[in-house]
Amino acid sequence: MVELTLPKNSRVGTGKTHTKPDGAKNLKTFNVYRWSPDDDKNPAIDTYYVDLDTCGPMILDGLIKIKNEIDPTLTFRRSCREGICGSCAMNINGTNTLACTTGMDEFNGDINIYPLPHQPVVKDLVPDLTNFYAQYASIQPWLQAETPSPSKERLQSKEDREKLDGLYECILCACCSTSCPSYWWNSDRFLGPAILLQAYRWIIDSRDEHTGERLDNLEDPFRLYRCHTIMNCANTCPKGLNPAKAIAEIKKMMVERR
Ligand code: SF4
Ligand code: SF4
Ligand code: FES
Repeated sequence: MVELTLPKNSRVGTGKTHTKPDGAKNLKTFNVYRWSPDDDKNPAIDTYYVDLDTCGPMILDGLIKIKNEIDPTLTFRRSCREGICGSCAMNINGTNTLACTTGMDEFNGDINIYPLPHQPVVKDLVPDLTNFYAQYASIQPWLQAETPSPSKERLQSKEDREKLDGLYECILCACCSTSCPSYWWNSDRFLGPAILLQAYRWIIDSRDEHTGERLDNLEDPFRLYRCHTIMNCANTCPKGLNPAKAIAEIKKMMVERR
């Protein structure tokens, strides 16, 4: 029998249980992953009780209330609080999603919160997305054209503009990539669903003139072809997008140009 030794930080222990607020009648239990690089301790789950009668309705409201009133050391990212910036992406009761657009009333029991899976952790609920952003830069996510612009704008037909629907809405939250088994095991070489959806967004843009170079950049057994159409990405995207479909379209273009 094979014996595996798990890295020390992969063992998650039981942390601190904070006291319940006095007189509160409508409590929600939050079990939250905690880990700090500043000490030598293993990660642990801390338990907090949030008074729903004095809290906003979303998971992010609960986390902000915990940070403001119970435990200022709790660390997480957030900015827009309306599903636009992508910074509050985390794993909530087993699903990668946005804390600001997920209602507490979507869950009957406890709310269990972890950082996005299979990424290094900076602290608590903050994943280190350095590799993710480097991969994004590698697809050169900007319009590239040699033809001089005929006016201030490069125009496109209504039909060509519609081809960007379902792509431009991506907020780069990384929920899809961090739910993809292929990305878990090969994130050093496979670009993952979010970045491939972004790559397709430029490949399909009628104003861009570097389609061939963009496809060349993806013609690789790992960067594109590690997608095995498992579809976790489409199932988890909080914006309702379908990265797997974008990946399939790129693969189709690869075949067509051969
Ligand atoms: S495709 Fe969806 S889940 Fe993936 S990064 Fe974009 S918005 Fe997030
Ligand atoms: S369809 Fe491809 S990119 Fe999406 S989760 Fe599956 S393997 Fe990953
Ligand atoms: S805080 Fe911006 S998407 Fe949630």
